[in-house]
Amino acid sequence: MMLIVWRELLKKHENEVAAVITEPIMTNSGVILPEEGYLKEVRRLCDEYGVLLIIDEVKTGFNAAPSAAFSLYNIEPDLVTFGKVVGGGTPLAAFGGKREFMEEILPLGGAIHFGTYNANPLCVAAGLTALKEIFTSNTYSEMCKLNDQLYKGVKDAVEDLKIKAAVVKVGNMGSIFFGLDELPRNFREAFKCDKFMWYRYWINMINRGVIPYGGAWFEEWFVSAMHTKEDIEITIEKTVDTFKVLKNVNC
Ligand SMILES: Cc1ncc(COP(=O)(O)O)c(C=O)c1O
Repeated sequence: MMLIVWRELLKKHENEVAAVITEPIMTNSGVILPEEGYLKEVRRLCDEYGVLLIIDEVKTGFNAAPSAAFSLYNIEPDLVTFGKVVGGGTPLAAFGGKREFMEEILPLGGAIHFGTYNANPLCVAAGLTALKEIFTSNTYSEMCKLNDQLYKGVKDAVEDLKIKAAVVKVGNMGSIFFGLDELPRNFREAFKCDKFMWYRYWINMINRGVIPYGGAWFEEWFVSAMHTKEDIEITIEKTVDTFKVLKNVNC
C-alpha cells in the first residue's frame, strides 16, 4: 500500500523531488519494522526517479543493529544521518555517504556546511571513545541478550495475564502497543493503540521505581551498556505487577 503511494507521488512530482528521507525502522511511533522488501523497493524507486535516498539512523544507529540499521535490509542509502549514540552522551550528530555526494560539500564542492559546533573536539573525542571502547561487539551482543530476556518477559506477561497488546523488539530496542492484536505496519495502525492504557502502564512502572520508556506511547525502550541482568529481572517483575493492576482497573 505505502509503496503504491510512493510510486504515485514520485511519478506525479517527477524532477521536483530531491530526496526521500526515512528511518530504516520507524521509531517515533513505537518500533515499526519495515515489511519484507519495502526498503529495497524504496531504493529502486529512488534510483528510477533520480532521487537521493537519505536514511535517518539518529535513533536506530548502534541500537537496532551493531552499526547502521539499514545494513539489516541489504540496501545502500546515498546519505546517512546519525545522532544520540554517536556522541557517547554528548551532543553530537554526524552524516556521511557516497563520495560523489560528500564531495559536493566545501572545500571539494560548493555546498556550505559550517556551524559553531561542527566537529566539536570534546564531543568527537567522547563519541569516538564510546564507539571504539565501550560499544564493542561483545557489549552489543550482551545488550541484545538482555533485550531478548526483557522482550520474552514482557511478552510472557502479556500472554499469561491476557493483556491485549502487541510487543516487538529489534536489537536493543522494543515497544508495547496496548490494545492491538497485531504489530502495526505503519503510523496510522500504530496510532490506533490504547494510549490511555500506555500512560497507566508508564505511571505504574514509575511508581514501582522503573522508567520503562521515554515519556510517550510513541517512544520505545532501549537496553544500554549500563543495564544488568538484575535490572532486566526487576523490570520484568514490575511489568508483571503493573499488568496485574491494569487488568483489574476499569480503564
Ligand atoms: C529519528 C530522528 N531523527 C532526527 C532527529 C533530530 O535529531 P537532532 O535533534 O539531532 O536534529 C530525531 C530527534 O530525536 C529523531 O528521533
